[in-house]
Amino acid sequence: MGMPPPDDGLPEVTVRPTIDPGDVADVRSFYVNSTVQPFRYDDGPESYAVFIAEAIASFGPSSVLEFGCGAGRNLAVLRELTAARLVGVDLNPAAIAWGRDNFGLDLRVGDEAWLPAQGRDAFDIVYTVSVIDHIPEPEAAVAALIAAAAEFVVIYEIMHRETGRLAQMEDRQGQPTEGYPFSYFHDYPRLFASSGAWNLADIALPAGPTGVLPYYRLQVYSKRWAWRRQKLVSLLRLQRPMPDPPDPPAR
Ligand SMILES: C[S@@+](CC[C@H](N)C(=O)[O-])C[C@H]1O[C@@H](n2cnc3c(N)ncnc32)[C@H](O)[C@@H]1O
Repeated sequence: MGMPPPDDGLPEVTVRPTIDPGDVADVRSFYVNSTVQPFRYDDGPESYAVFIAEAIASFGPSSVLEFGCGAGRNLAVLRELTAARLVGVDLNPAAIAWGRDNFGLDLRVGDEAWLPAQGRDAFDIVYTVSVIDHIPEPEAAVAALIAAAAEFVVIYEIMHRETGRLAQMEDRQGQPTEGYPFSYFHDYPRLFASSGAWNLADIALPAGPTGVLPYYRLQVYSKRWAWRRQKLVSLLRLQRPMPDPPDPPAR
């Protein structure tokens, strides 16, 4: 008998392969005027947010759009690292109003239908932080992101080898619990390729240790052939993790 395949070390999640078309309308009403998503990083930015901002600033863009920016807390981090023109767009008017008033950022209310009006190649970089993983049918959004980005689309989303809706995850004690609502695993390389963009970098970048947070990855895509031969990842600064807890949760 052969050895079983190695565990990927991540907490277990259950993925329901089919996505209900009714989710498209439900997820919008979930987010419009929602105040569930924090509008700012209360205790300073999370380390993933700093990593994303540093990665984007490292490309030296002259303009950046955050699609699904919420109140703009990621743009507020990025603003410290770049002189680029920064714009955010989100379908939630309450978040946009808060971010305009409190961060003074250039934020607009809109969804993927807002993007084509900005023009092709309107921004050097377009990025997302946990947005496409809340869009049940993301084909149109992905195509519009690629069209709007002259150089790169950078995405930070949950990813898994199985695709579909997140149905169950583990709580902090390792017990099964309902997944974060309206969260989807998509096949991003396939989605981007079908709109003419290629994966240039793929980095595991957990947002935290529990639930679905370890499933976050940072990926960089481009439609420009010239980038396909470049080495995008020049420096990885992996930090030594804390020692494992004495009793990891039983499986
Ligand atoms: C999990 S929150 C992340 C917010 C922000 N990126 C952050 O990290 O704080 C997901 C955001 O995506 C927005 N969103 C979801 N679907 C969208 C769409 N189709 N167009 C624009 N924004 C969308 C929601 O309103 C929400 O603000």
